[in-house]
Parts: sequence; structure tokens; C-alpha cells
Amino acid sequence: MNRLVAPSLLAADFGNLSKDIEMVNSSQADWFHLDIMDGVFVPNISFGFPVIKEVKKLAKKPLDVHLMIVDPDRYLDRFKEYGADVLTVHYEACTHLHRTLTQIRSLGMKSGVSLNPHTSVELLDDILEDADLVLIMSVNPGFGGQKFIKNSLKKISRLKEMIIAKGCNTLIEVDGGVDASNADTLYNAGADVLVSGNAVFGAANPKDVIEKLKKS
Ligand code: DX5
Ligand code: ZN
Repeated sequence: MNRLVAPSLLAADFGNLSKDIEMVNSSQADWFHLDIMDGVFVPNISFGFPVIKEVKKLAKKPLDVHLMIVDPDRYLDRFKEYGADVLTVHYEACTHLHRTLTQIRSLGMKSGVSLNPHTSVELLDDILEDADLVLIMSVNPGFGGQKFIKNSLKKISRLKEMIIAKGCNTLIEVDGGVDASNADTLYNAGADVLVSGNAVFGAANPKDVIEKLKKS
């Protein structure tokens, strides 16, 4: 079983980003999680290519890029160019999801698909083999620091069953309201990767929290 941790830079100090990137580099974290918001798919705007470029220069771990944008197909090649290793699009934003995931893989990135809290995992039945990762949103996307939606646990367990039944290697990632108190339950339900923003960067000792998230 995987127990990967991806701190979300959305909660980092953008006035001193290099310090927080160094902290992640020297911690037990596995990936950097980068949240890209366009103000259309979600009611918030985060950051774009110039920031990703600077993160890529300093990061010693893979960049896990979570696109909360409409029409992501327009930018897939640019996210590759700017350093994304895992590229996740939203199910709700893709009319031709098979084409999008195939294109992400053919550009040399891991393909990810994310589900909003109201979107059923059953809808992925015909696309699971084309996704290296499924990102279960356990809050409504757009903001950090929200409360974990409990129904997400059921979705993780069901998705795990679907992945096992198909015999594919798709990873399950969980994003939103994740902290050391629910990490163990999430891994036990079938999660492979935990994203955590405020619980990590808001802590007095972020590396300790990362260690707890990995070992819970
Ligand atoms: C929300 C983002 C998350 C966010 C998580 O739309 O996708 O990655 O940064 O933040 P926390 O861990 O604070 O809920
Ligand atoms: Zn995210």
C-alpha cells in the first residue's frame, strides 16, 4: 500500500515561497501539490505559469498539478513545458475526458482525473484504465482550510473496489480537509496519496505534521 503525502502550496507563504519549498524538499513529503484556479471553474484565482516555473527550479520532488480550470485541453502542453509531472483535470470540466487523459499521457505526464464531492465514482468505470490517478475532492474545490466532507470516505472505498476489480494501478488521491487526525482512516479506506495544505503550512512544525501524515 502506498502512503504518499503531497503538501499543497496554496497554503504556503507566497512572500517567501523558496523557504517553504526547501522545507518540503527536506521533509518526508513525496510530491508538491499545485492548485491552479481560473476564477471560472471555481470561485477563486490562484497562480499560473510564472509561479510554476519558479517552483520547478527549486523543487526536488515531482510536481502534482491540480487544474481547477475550464477547457484544460488548451494548456496541457504548456503544463508539461513548465514542469508538471502529474497533471489532473476535473471530470466536470472535460467533455472528451478520454482524449484529454490520453493526451496527458502522450505528453509524458501521469494522467489524473478529479471528482467534485457531488460526482459519483461510478462515472469513472469506463475511463479508469486511462487514469494513473483519481483525485477525490473531499471539500468543494476553490479554497484551502475547509472541513472534510465525510461522504468522501465511502467514495474512496468504492473506488478502491473498482480499481481492484479492474486490476489497474490507478492511485487514489484525497484533497481537502486532510490532517493527521483523519489520515489513517483515509489510507485504510484505500487512499494512496494525501494532499494537505493548512494542516502542514499552518503548523508550528510542518515537517512533524508531514511525518505524522505519512506514518499515521
Ligand atoms: C482546494 C485545493 C486543495 C487545498 C487543500 O480546492 O484543491 O489542494 O489546497 O487545502 P486544505 O488541506 O487546507 O484543505
Ligand atoms: Zn488541490
